[in-house]
Amino acid sequence: MKDLTPPAVDAARVARAFRRGLGSYHGAASAQAQIAAELSALLAKHVGQTPFSHLFEFGAGTGHLTDALLRDLSVSRLTLNDLLPEAEAGLLPILRARGKSASFLPGRIEDICLPEPLDLIAAASVVQWVSDLPGLLRRFEAALCPGGWLALSGFGSAHFHELVALGSDAAAPNYMDHHQWAGVLPQGLRLIELRQAPIVLRFDTPRAVLRHLRDTGVNGQSRGGWSRGRLRAFEDAYCSRFPNQGGVGLTYDPVLMLARRV
Ligand SMILES: C[S@@+](CC[C@H](N)C(=O)[O-])C[C@H]1O[C@@H](n2cnc3c(N)ncnc32)[C@H](O)[C@@H]1O
Repeated sequence: MKDLTPPAVDAARVARAFRRGLGSYHGAASAQAQIAAELSALLAKHVGQTPFSHLFEFGAGTGHLTDALLRDLSVSRLTLNDLLPEAEAGLLPILRARGKSASFLPGRIEDICLPEPLDLIAAASVVQWVSDLPGLLRRFEAALCPGGWLALSGFGSAHFHELVALGSDAAAPNYMDHHQWAGVLPQGLRLIELRQAPIVLRFDTPRAVLRHLRDTGVNGQSRGGWSRGRLRAFEDAYCSRFPNQGGVGLTYDPVLMLARRV
């Protein structure tokens, strides 16, 4: 059973890191792009041509999942959220290209008043930043109409295991393996699908890994401030412990989860 104690999330620090990476995120976040496409395809496999009347997506970022959902599904009305108000401007071209418009609700998903009723709530690569996931899932349960879908992806305990082993504090606060999802879903949400399969990215150097973390904004927990000596020790240990085809590896451990309102 998952420890339900909400871990502390420094929202201002997380926002700062994602804001810094916003311009580079879309191109740099190849793993998140793949995860978003897989989550959308998994949902489409289940729902087929069934049209959705109101989709709410939180943590939409630069729109990897938004774009995939609009490509794979039939959606009438769309409400998008992200922690960063400025994410809205980046989402507009994606919506325009798909012939859609959307309402945008900026801020922490924990504080947002959810539109109701919804028949689809979705988010890719966001729930690891949420401080009280069981509480949020109970609110989703209330906002979804009977038969409505919840499609989420988070990360499991092997996520960035190289960084953890090397003593980095860049990890997000809330990782859950696939078997832990059953313990956090409220009774009114029935588990439909769970998938967990790692994606290993290769980088030329450990420094390129650090650049990748900064460019994707996922190092919001990191306290930074490395001395030259600590950086050198990190690079040496990374190269010797996690070599990958002449460079080094970084593991993403995505968990895809589909549930349905009973
Ligand atoms: C790793 S990105 C994922 C973006 C997009 N969903 C994708 O698949 O590429 C995480 C996004 O969640 C947003 N975010 C982080 N914590 C959040 C929160 N508590 N509420 C809403 N959005 C949040 C960040 O601003 C960022 O845009």
